[in-house]
Amino acid sequence: MKHLLSTAGLSRTTAIGLLDTAERMSEVEHREVRKLPVLRGRTVVNLFFEDSTRTRISFEAAAKRLSADVITFAAKGSSVSKGESLKDTAQTLEAMGADAVVIRHASSGAAEQLARSGWIDAGVVNAGDGTHEHPTQALLDAFTLRRHRAAVAGTDPAGTDLSGIRVAIVGDVLHSRVARSNLWLLTTLGADVTLVAPPTLLPVGAAGWPARISYDLDEVLADGVDAVMMLRVQAERMHAAFFPTAREYARRWGFDAARLAALDTASAAGGPAAETIIMHPGPMNRGLEIAAEAADSPRSTVLAQVRNGVSVRMAVLYQLLAGGPDEAADAETRSP
Ligand code: CP
Repeated sequence: MKHLLSTAGLSRTTAIGLLDTAERMSEVEHREVRKLPVLRGRTVVNLFFEDSTRTRISFEAAAKRLSADVITFAAKGSSVSKGESLKDTAQTLEAMGADAVVIRHASSGAAEQLARSGWIDAGVVNAGDGTHEHPTQALLDAFTLRRHRAAVAGTDPAGTDLSGIRVAIVGDVLHSRVARSNLWLLTTLGADVTLVAPPTLLPVGAAGWPARISYDLDEVLADGVDAVMMLRVQAERMHAAFFPTAREYARRWGFDAARLAALDTASAAGGPAAETIIMHPGPMNRGLEIAAEAADSPRSTVLAQVRNGVSVRMAVLYQLLAGGPDEAADAETRSP
């Protein structure tokens, strides 16, 4: 694998290979010496044109646990403010020895541009581009779902597949690269996905996507899901006209205390909701798309997702910088 730009371009074989490698990487966490020497002498550059806490820091931790050198670049405070282009910035960082570039950018397609333009030879990882994709978030979400399913079934995560797992992706789908990457990856892995959103926060083309669409979160929860993935409301990408009022949004599409109580009541009555988990990629708008009661409940996997992100990003960097040749089965540009 030379680059990781999207999950739409990821074959089932490659995706499962990455999840299995991440399982092996997570074992490093439990060792006394938490470092593997496999990327010694290699340099990973974190090239972040948009803010990030989880993704940037976990790529940094992942690279360091594989013994790579890490250079972190934040556009704020750099020569980007003087008008330096993406091409010149990337070439400058490669001249400092970058073997892999992890890029987050506000423009959809920026990672693809960097990888395909020939400006640099380094491998490129998309750490979130506009509203397009966030492939490592989807991989860590799939990793979390696989571990959950394995825990419920009492099986080994590495041998557990996600066929038929029911996932509701809820909220601001329109602006969400997390929703898109999860939809493509979960579909590839055989999951059954429902998108739940206000009509104004669904893209026009969503009717053609491989997912059921619902506007009613309570109905979807009552039908039973294995996981409900709450999306951050992206106020920074939104026009006021799109948005139901915050109060209406929280009441109709937020995972609030009442919905948590209903889920707990349904599971106490012996329903399938006993095993339903609540996911969120972070950062959370508490009180809007998710209430504190839900975010901090035993059903919440928010912090497990963060932990799993390090193992998944170790697997991605390892595959990019020390892995074998491209898997023949990988279709680079599967059109979803
Ligand atoms: N989930 C996610 O991408 O979080 P950050 O913006 O903090 O990286």
